[in-house]
Amino acid sequence: MFKDFFKYYKSKEPPPDFGAVIDFKKPDYSKVRNILPDVNEDEGVAQGLKPIKEWKIYGIISKPGLIFIENPFTTLGQQYWITRCVRDYSSKPNKTNLDLHNLFTKHENWWDECSNAERARTLLPKLRWATLGYHHNWDTKEYSENAKDSMPEDMMKLTRCLAKVASFHDFKAESAIVNYYRMNSTLSGHTDHSEVDCEAPLFSVSFGQTAIFLIGGLLREDPADAIFIRSGDIVIMSKSSRLRYHGVPRILAADSTPWESESSKDITQMKEKFSDWDRIKSYICESRVNMNVRQVLRPGQTSLDNNSP
Ligand code: OGA
Ligand code: MN
Repeated sequence: MFKDFFKYYKSKEPPPDFGAVIDFKKPDYSKVRNILPDVNEDEGVAQGLKPIKEWKIYGIISKPGLIFIENPFTTLGQQYWITRCVRDYSSKPNKTNLDLHNLFTKHENWWDECSNAERARTLLPKLRWATLGYHHNWDTKEYSENAKDSMPEDMMKLTRCLAKVASFHDFKAESAIVNYYRMNSTLSGHTDHSEVDCEAPLFSVSFGQTAIFLIGGLLREDPADAIFIRSGDIVIMSKSSRLRYHGVPRILAADSTPWESESSKDITQMKEKFSDWDRIKSYICESRVNMNVRQVLRPGQTSLDNNSP
């Protein structure tokens, strides 16, 4: 059962044995296989990505359609996307879990308010999610033309590139959830099935602290595999793995910090580009962020009110 695996990895007392967790840093080829990138596409170097020929891409043999890309981002790319998630995607027009609480006036937002150290202490850990594009409705689990904003250009471009490398040539990012995890956060088991087009792949890009990600079967009763997801790692759920149960039972302290520059040239460039980097860096040292990007409509379909392309 999915929930037994969830409970096992969530437990603090006794702590779990992480020995069976799939670690793509040390691939066990009895369980995983290499996937060759579709390098005919040369858009890769944009968006803070390394040249595509350097990427390591894997599949899990027992989960066809589940694709894992080991951190393809440069250091500056990591810093760029972390900044976008923490400082930018957490504010309007995006919706967040804090909207209901009337914490801010029209001119205030979560990140700016957190520049006050006193306020940050209680406010920083409160942000759990932001929704972008077609806003995921957590109650009805339905998207609506009445709850839709524009998607960020950079996120659309990044996922278009990732899609092409994985040979999905007509993916269009129309909706995203950005999840914010603190060290004690979890995300319980679920399937993502609200999209009209569940044939289109789902892209999950993570930064910051490490997650134990559980990927099960199509039913709650099915067992699950656990995977380490580190900063920059990407999971694509497609084909027969698009509708599998999945969740995050545990966040672990990162064993490396690929968002930190070694060269002082990078650090200077970074400080010029992203004014808030020091504060963002201290946030990500005790958090994980996950961009979960979906296509909602079928190819050619222009609106939810118009079901036929
Ligand atoms: C989601 C999701 C997984 C993660 O947002 O639907 O499954 O790794 N996120 O945070
Ligand atoms: Mn999900």
